Amino acid sequence: MTTRRIYLDYNASTPIDPAVSAAMKPFLADHYGNPSSGHWASAGAKDAIERARSQVAAAVGCHSDEIVFTSGGSEANNLALKGVVYKLREKGDHIITTSIEHPAILEPLRFLSRLGVRVTFLPVDGTGRVDPDDLRAAVSPRTMLISIMHANNEVGTIQPIEECARVAHEHGILFHTDAAQSVGKIPTDVNQLGVDFLSLAGHKLYAPKGVGALFIRRGISLEPLIHGAGHESGRHAGTESALLAVGLGKAAELARDFDAMDSVRTLRDHFWMELKKRFGDSVALNGHPMHRLPNTLNVSFVGRIGAEILAQLDGVAATTGSACHSGHVELSPVLKAMGVETDVGMGAVRFSLGRGTTLDEIDTVVAQLSHIFEPA
Ligand SMILES: Cc1ncc(COP(=O)(O)O)c(C=O)c1O
Repeated sequence: MTTRRIYLDYNASTPIDPAVSAAMKPFLADHYGNPSSGHWASAGAKDAIERARSQVAAAVGCHSDEIVFTSGGSEANNLALKGVVYKLREKGDHIITTSIEHPAILEPLRFLSRLGVRVTFLPVDGTGRVDPDDLRAAVSPRTMLISIMHANNEVGTIQPIEECARVAHEHGILFHTDAAQSVGKIPTDVNQLGVDFLSLAGHKLYAPKGVGALFIRRGISLEPLIHGAGHESGRHAGTESALLAVGLGKAAELARDFDAMDSVRTLRDHFWMELKKRFGDSVALNGHPMHRLPNTLNVSFVGRIGAEILAQLDGVAATTGSACHSGHVELSPVLKAMGVETDVGMGAVRFSLGRGTTLDEIDTVVAQLSHIFEPA
């Protein structure tokens, strides 16, 4: 008997949408010229990159010249954080962030703290949200940047970005959001959010791995991380990949259609209702009940180890919220920061749904769980 494969790990990565691969295909064989060259062999690539830039810009509601292509979400975050520090060093030495950011924020900040930058980590409540009043209280005259993720990768909680950005701007501080998980799942208009920088990652929105972008608001200049020839308006040196840009552009165009996300939300809610019906208080939801990504269900199987549940779920790709280190289970830093009790948090499993998820798949997983999980 072959095991049925069910993919419920879309927050980790998405498959490439067939329309995206179709758009990329001509750039594998043709359009090989260097986009910076001035002859016939480069024109196709150059035009395609600029079209892709405008597609990405449209997905976040900005001008094309405010988009810089990067190698992904991590690089976009590094460019925002280090680019501000390197450029505006004399203006301050303090950055505010949250305690539940992705390592792609935490690690560059750890690096910057070795260079003398002070970092404040805002706490979150039990649902994973920051309090804008805590942010207000953390601001100092030396604060140069505030970076708060739009939506959390593990529990899906959406932050009050508009309010936080307002606090930043009341004090003349630049504001960055890591939107790697939110673009394509919820609206991410940079003007509605009020942000100065926004990071996005291609492989979270049905584009290939290895491409992403940073929105940099007009009038703000950053120190590039990679110096060289003047690609990307001097903000990211290196010959551009039309192949990857076109993939991201097409994915960004598809990401503007939220109809697919409505059905994903319906499936996700059905999943949770079925678990609740079967297991009652033996399952607990991690994350905000409402301010949460429509595809994310982080659920704790109380009294069990998430990794063990996952190991028994035949053919199901999902992620656990706890890690086993030398025999004992450690909560993820996100669940820990949310104050989730150990016996609840250690049973956490993150299911993240996507465009390809079907009702039948969810019902199959629920049926499997009914066999695996015996509530205490
Ligand atoms: C919130 C968040 N930020 C940044 C990243 C990093 O993106 P990339 O893998 O494209 O570097 C991820 C990927 O897991 C993420 O979930």
